[in-house]
Amino acid sequence: MASLPQHLLPVLLLLALLGPSSAGAPGVIRLPRAGACAAPADPAVYDRPVIGIVTHPGDGAAGRINNGTSTSYIGASYVKFVEAGGARVIPLIYNEPDERLLQKLSLVNGVLFTGGSVKSGPYFETIKKVFQYVLDKNDAGVPFPLFAQCLGFELVSMIVSKDNNILESFHASDQASTLQFPNYSSLQGSVFERFHPDLIRKLSTSCLVMQNHKYGISPKRLRENDALSSFFKILTTSPDENGEVYVSTVEAQKYPITCTQWHPEKAIFEWRKPMIPHSEDAVQVTQHFANYFISSLQLQAYSDATWASDPSDRRSLSA
Ligand SMILES: *[C@@H]1O[C@H](CO)[C@@H](O)[C@H](O)[C@H]1NC(C)=O
Ligand SMILES: *[C@@H]1O[C@H](CO)[C@@H](O)[C@H](O)[C@H]1NC(C)=O
Repeated sequence: MASLPQHLLPVLLLLALLGPSSAGAPGVIRLPRAGACAAPADPAVYDRPVIGIVTHPGDGAAGRINNGTSTSYIGASYVKFVEAGGARVIPLIYNEPDERLLQKLSLVNGVLFTGGSVKSGPYFETIKKVFQYVLDKNDAGVPFPLFAQCLGFELVSMIVSKDNNILESFHASDQASTLQFPNYSSLQGSVFERFHPDLIRKLSTSCLVMQNHKYGISPKRLRENDALSSFFKILTTSPDENGEVYVSTVEAQKYPITCTQWHPEKAIFEWRKPMIPHSEDAVQVTQHFANYFISSLQLQAYSDATWASDPSDRRSLSA
């Protein structure tokens, strides 16, 4: 189930079997009729995906970090990025109690890890827990995507390799870069499948994506690490300011997990750094990533709704 907790599935199936006469009963959860233009019968029914974003320590003012535990933040651009894909966000506060974190995770359809700088302490521990939750949920057959950007990708690399020293230094602070595609066959089924070939070509020749990081991982180190190379496939690489090449986009082989060292959210929603590309092409790249992240969940919600809402829908599916 994409929009409702898993434990409601039997209830929905029961409702579907009982037919429309039960639909108005109090306490009943109704799913919208897929494909209908009409307003939902009950405006309180919410059928769009919800994404959890883990907050980063500090108050977010100019990237200021402190050791205070009373504040944490999510850059607004990450929330807008998810909203641009047609979903909403709830914050997963990095230092809230475990049971509250797990309760929130049970209510969201996917997770985003933001950029930032903190690589240890309670924040890293929470990222580890949420990452394990993502794996477990998918292993249990519930599609539960994760999109990890910049620091998020670095932390996932540390977790998967079980090596906190796996990262290397690169010079890519406030830098617009290209994306190079070392293996076009690996793009099949990936986020880049929805890109027009012209846009792929432009990505590899024009600086359409925003980098802002001091760490990363080289293709060589990723390939030579058994855990990383069996978990991820490399979709793109990028050169830093000195021409040193690092991995800039990966997808997991067996999980709906996408990681970028670069910042898709910035091209449409951030203006503070002068190098951020804002061209029509750069905006399109961002929008493709937002659509890709959220659209897998829309398909899931659509098929669940069609299946469970109305007996006639079930008939047409089984016909
Ligand atoms: C946070 O605490 C650590 C460990 O006590 C210390 O090394 C670090 O400088 C502190 N950071 C800030 C921004 O106060
Ligand atoms: C390119 O990607 C395909 C599909 O993921 C894979 O089978 C193939 O081994 C890759 N080739 C190289 C040279 O890495």
